[in-house]
Amino acid sequence: MSDPLAPVRVADTRVETIHVMTPNDANFLGKVFGGHILSLIDLVAYAVSSKFAGVLCVTASFDRVDFHSPIEVGNLVKMVGHVSYVGRTSLEVSVDISAEDVIAKTVHQTNTARVTMVALRDGKPTPVPRLICETRDEHIQFLEGQLRREFRGRAQGDLQRMMERLRSLPDSELHSMVRTELESHRPRSSS
Ligand SMILES: CC(C)(COP(=O)(O)OP(=O)(O)OC[C@H]1O[C@@H](n2cnc3c(N)ncnc32)[C@H](O)[C@@H]1OP(=O)(O)O)[C@@H](O)C(=O)NCCC(=O)NCCS
Repeated sequence: MSDPLAPVRVADTRVETIHVMTPNDANFLGKVFGGHILSLIDLVAYAVSSKFAGVLCVTASFDRVDFHSPIEVGNLVKMVGHVSYVGRTSLEVSVDISAEDVIAKTVHQTNTARVTMVALRDGKPTPVPRLICETRDEHIQFLEGQLRREFRGRAQGDLQRMMERLRSLPDSELHSMVRTELESHRPRSSS
């Protein structure tokens, strides 16, 4: 039997899927639901990670996903996923998303999503294979994945500390801070 932890080339982790956006996928404005796209990203991350790890993987976290422009009903949405970083039992899957208008024959890149998946064996996190980075871009993406992981850990700690501090403030200070924040975003009158 082949070694389940044998290193894998980034290029061999690639999974590509294409989805037709139907009226069932639309929101109240007639554009595609953001939640539908997130669900497709999650499926691709599952496929990439489980194929790579040789065991079932679960979604641990999503990095922030921005929607810069809407996706239309009738578009073909292409998702291209690959492993961009590996830890011990977790790995990062990057998913590039593009939307094609088949009538106008235009394609626009919508965004890149990053999902952290964890490999499980008997319900517990289990080691994943090492990743073989070959190109300059693959090396950069791996190191960016490491930075994202470190940054997430640090940012989470900072946020936790700041939220604990908020809970210790007296009511008067909380009221004043909320007032200041609301004032800073007050719409300007047009007259
Ligand atoms: C993800 C999960 C398996 C982690 O379990 P755990 O007991 O916290 O595991 P550990 O603390 O041993 O961490 C295992 C790895 O996961 C990573 N990890 C855990 N939680 C994470 C999170 N929220 N975001 C990113 N990575 C995470 C750890 O950094 C570690 O990585 P490493 O081995 O590469 O260093 C567990 O939280 C879980 O089962 N969550 C639910 C998953 C699920 O159902 N997803 C679908 C959502 S409906």
